[in-house]
Amino acid sequence: MRDEVSPSNEPELPPMMSQDYSEAEDWPGYFASVLGKDARETLIAALDAFEREGFTGGLGVDIAAGEGRDTLEMLGRGWRVVATDAEPQAFGLLWPRVPEEQRPRLTTEEVDFADMRVSDCDLVNASFALPFCCPADFPALWSRIVAALRPGGRFAGQFFGDRDTWASLPGRSHHSRQEVMGLLEGFEIEMLRVEEKDDPPDRRNPKHWQIFHVVARRR
Ligand SMILES: C[S@@+](CC[C@H](N)C(=O)[O-])C[C@H]1O[C@@H](n2cnc3c(N)ncnc32)[C@H](O)[C@@H]1O
Repeated sequence: MRDEVSPSNEPELPPMMSQDYSEAEDWPGYFASVLGKDARETLIAALDAFEREGFTGGLGVDIAAGEGRDTLEMLGRGWRVVATDAEPQAFGLLWPRVPEEQRPRLTTEEVDFADMRVSDCDLVNASFALPFCCPADFPALWSRIVAALRPGGRFAGQFFGDRDTWASLPGRSHHSRQEVMGLLEGFEIEMLRVEEKDDPPDRRNPKHWQIFHVVARRR
């Protein structure tokens, strides 16, 4: 008689995606799931806008840079970059991918949003980053971002809306459209693309998304 392994009655879960790691704030898992992806469209739009003005080689601060997709793009376009993140594994993944000749233009700082200083700079990039700052620390962080940007400097990044499923998670900073407009007072808005959609039901943890993709120029 053959031994037979009885099939489990547990339904198979859909695979973990980057959003599942983000929801759980499993940052090493997130980094592994996005490693090697292209830079964010908001960063590309901001860098292109500087280049149209004939400005290159400025100083950019990449807030919560993660494994470094945007930092690599800035370095590749000749910028100096201060990349910050609280997760120690982030920079272990970034540094080996920085070409030797670009390394002198990169500084990395392992720091929490609460303690993050923002150097005076031409560009603050915060891709899918600020929603993970706890509400108690958000106003001071945003004030430091605004204060760091010179007139003509740019902010690029995302805010998550108050209708987004994750707005109810503890420790997250989400904003209504009106609140986003308030944060961007003092800026000329160059991009404000609202992405609002429901995940297909076959996702592991389907959610409603409300994302504000922003590029804004400091007046
Ligand atoms: C969704 S990832 C975005 C990473 C990258 N900017 C991108 O566009 O893929 C959020 C990032 O926020 C960082 N982060 C989360 N909580 C943080 C905190 N309290 N202080 C600083 N960074 C934090 C994580 O380590 C992670 O790199």
